[in-house]
Amino acid sequence: MQVKIIDHPLIQHKLSLIRDIKTGPKEFRELLDEISMLMAYEITRDLPLETTEIETPVAKCQCKMLAGKKLGVVPILRAGLGMVNGILRLIPAAKVGHVGLYRDPKTLLPVEYYCKLPPDVAERDFVVIDPMLATGGSSAATIDILKREGARHIKLMCLVAAPEGVLLVNKQHPDVEVYTAAVDEYLNDHGYIVPGLGDAGDRIFGTK
Ligand code: PRP
Ligand code: URA
Repeated sequence: MQVKIIDHPLIQHKLSLIRDIKTGPKEFRELLDEISMLMAYEITRDLPLETTEIETPVAKCQCKMLAGKKLGVVPILRAGLGMVNGILRLIPAAKVGHVGLYRDPKTLLPVEYYCKLPPDVAERDFVVIDPMLATGGSSAATIDILKREGARHIKLMCLVAAPEGVLLVNKQHPDVEVYTAAVDEYLNDHGYIVPGLGDAGDRIFGTK
C-alpha cells in the first residue's frame, strides 16, 4: 500500500476531535479547515524554488522564492469543499476546479454531475481533495477526469482513508501520491469507513 500518513501531533489531535460524534458542524468545519492548512504544508514540501535578489534594509542578498509553478486544487463536491480554504490560506495563487460526484447508495459507484477546471490543465500540478477515501471510487474517477482533460501531475489529499480506497487508487493510478492523516480499519457493509467520522458532507453542512 503506497500512502503517506501525515502524523503531525497537531493534525492527529484535531482529527480525534473531528471524529467525535459530539462535534457539531461549526467546530467540524473549523477543525477541517485547520487540518487542511497543516496538511497543505506537508504536500507542498517539494515545490520548486528559485533564487532572487532581495534588498533588505541592510544589504542585498540572494534569497529563495517559489518558482511560480502553476497549481490547481480540485475539491470533490460536496465534502471536498471543506478543505479548500485551509489550502488556499497557504497557496492563495492556486486555481480551484470542481468535480461533482456522488456515490450511488446501492452500487457505491460514483456518478459524475459536474466538472469545471482551471485553464492550462496540462501545465498545472493538481491536488485532488476529499476528506474521505472509502472504496476509492470517487477519487479514482476524479483523477480519471483530470487525466482525460490533460492533467499530468496529480496528488490526492484526504483526511481519513480505508485500506480498500488506498489500494484502488494505487492500482488505477500508480503515478498519484496519496496523502492522508489516517488509514482506518475497514469499510462496513454500507461503504462507511470504520471507525471513520461518519458522513463528512453531512457533518460539514449539517444535512442528513
Ligand atoms: C463521500 C465522500 C467522498 C466519497 C468517498 O461523498 O465525500 O467523495 O463519499 O467514497 P468512495 O471512496 O467510496 O467513493 P458522497 O458521495 O457521500 O457525497 P457528498 O460529498 O455530497 O456527501
Ligand atoms: N463517505 C463518507 O462521508 N464517509 C465514509 O465513511 C465513507 C464515504
